[in-house]
Parts: sequence; structure tokens; C-alpha cells
Amino acid sequence: MTEYDKNWDAYGKSIDDRKDAPEWAILRQARETHWREFFTGIAGKKVLDAGCGHGEYTVFALLAGASVWAFDYSAEMVEATRSRLERQGLQAQDLYQGSVTEIPHEDKSFDVVFCLAVLDHLPGDARTQALREMHRVLKPGGTLYLDVPNRLALHWRFVFLLMRLLRLYPGGKIHFFLPWEIRALARQNGFEPQASLGLTFCPPFSGIYTTDIRRVTFLPQFLIRPLDRLYLKVEQTMRRLGPFKAVCWHYFLKCRKRDD
Ligand SMILES: C[S@@+](CC[C@H](N)C(=O)[O-])C[C@H]1O[C@@H](n2cnc3c(N)ncnc32)[C@H](O)[C@@H]1O
Repeated sequence: MTEYDKNWDAYGKSIDDRKDAPEWAILRQARETHWREFFTGIAGKKVLDAGCGHGEYTVFALLAGASVWAFDYSAEMVEATRSRLERQGLQAQDLYQGSVTEIPHEDKSFDVVFCLAVLDHLPGDARTQALREMHRVLKPGGTLYLDVPNRLALHWRFVFLLMRLLRLYPGGKIHFFLPWEIRALARQNGFEPQASLGLTFCPPFSGIYTTDIRRVTFLPQFLIRPLDRLYLKVEQTMRRLGPFKAVCWHYFLKCRKRDD
């Protein structure tokens, strides 16, 4: 394992419990509403969560009635997902350590594949390899969901730089994608982009959310909740609109496997 991979293990451990903390509430709601809006038709489907991290999307898919297989390169992340599923009384079909560049499943096994905030951690040739693998394991006409950090979200990139300087995020390179760059990459590897949606337009008032900078707010408690609610409404509207979607921190792309 490289130094970079070890960092993911430490990161997996360090923030797992914080995901359930009060300052994350607004972000959990943002993610849940985003899930409902964007990840449609999941019930009854065979889903592969490639690079599941803490398992938040594995949980969403299971709750939506899908059969889910999930894996991550980091053993600690796999454990974090395992304990999250246990806490929620849910069960995946399988949960294991593995790499998206070498998926241990047969061709055309899944209706849906998630690869969320993973491609940006891979070097260029591995990104292509990962997309080919996901194309291989998807059934004809299957759906791929991608999430990448957005190079146009300059405000978030500043916060991210700060996190890096404070050593609050795993080391190693992250590739910030331009929205049209990830669309082109998907096309080159046999997918047809169908829809896109932004997530996280600006930090909520309950604290500067970047995964690890601890809650920092200068506002009195009684103001935080209404302001956060307002933020959520603003985000839910803005993330659909072209110019605003294009500056959200996360850029989600839904693609269909081309049958060629
Ligand atoms: C930012 S987290 C995203 C987790 C989850 N998909 C989500 O959206 O909440 C990135 C994850 O990618 C995983 N990862 C990095 N390289 C990978 C690879 N080659 N194969 C599978 N997972 C990988 C890391 O271990 C980490 O859990």
C-alpha cells in the first residue's frame, strides 16, 4: 500500500462518528434530498457501490429497496460501512475490500453502478481503466452515477487547500474536474451522459463544512437552525440551475451504458 492509501484508512476512522454529529444535520438533509431527486428507479435493482467510503450511498440504496454489493480500497472504510449497516439493521449482498480498476464481478452483472467521489483520487490511466471496468460489469443500458469535485467551485477549492495545509485531508493528488471534462471522459469510455445535478453550493451556517475542519461558526445558536433551513431551500433550487450547478462542490453525472 502507498502512503496515500494509508491516509484513507486514517481518514475513514477519524470522521465516521462525526457524520452523525449535529453540525452535519443540514448536510445529511442536503444529501438525502439530492439522493431522492437524482437517484431514481433504484428499487429492485442490482447496485454496485464502487468505492463506498463510509457507506452513505450503500445505505440509501438499501433503504430504497435495491440489492447492493459494495467495496472500497481502504479496509477501514469497509469497516466503517459494515458498522453503519449494522447500526441501521441493513445488509448488503456483499461488502469487501477491492479496487475499482479491477472489479471482481462478471460482465453485465449490475443494473446500476455508483462511483461517487472516487475517480478524482485516481491517476489518469487508472480513471480510464475504472470506467472500462464499470462499463464491463454493467448490463446493456445500465446506469452509471458519477460524482466528481468541481474545478469551477473556487470557494470550495480554497477551503480544501486550507484543509490540506492543516493536514485535515488525506494526502495525494486530487483531480478537480471541469463539468464538460467528466462528460467527455464518460463518452470516451462507452457512456452517454443523461443528466447532472450539483451538490453543496456553499457552507451551511451550522459550521464550516468540509469534512474535517471542526465546526466553526460565529452565529448565535437560535439563528443557526432557521438560517440552515433557508440555506437548504436555496441549495435545492440553485443546484438544478446551470450556472449555479456549475459551481457546486460536487458535480453528479448520470450516464447510460452505450450498447456498442
Ligand atoms: C471521498 S471518499 C467517497 C466515498 C463514497 N463513495 C461517498 O461518496 O460518500 C473516496 C473513497 O474512494 C476510495 N478509493 C480510493 N481509491 C480507490 C480504488 N482504486 N478503488 C476503490 N475505492 C477507492 C477511498 O478509500 C475512499 O473511501
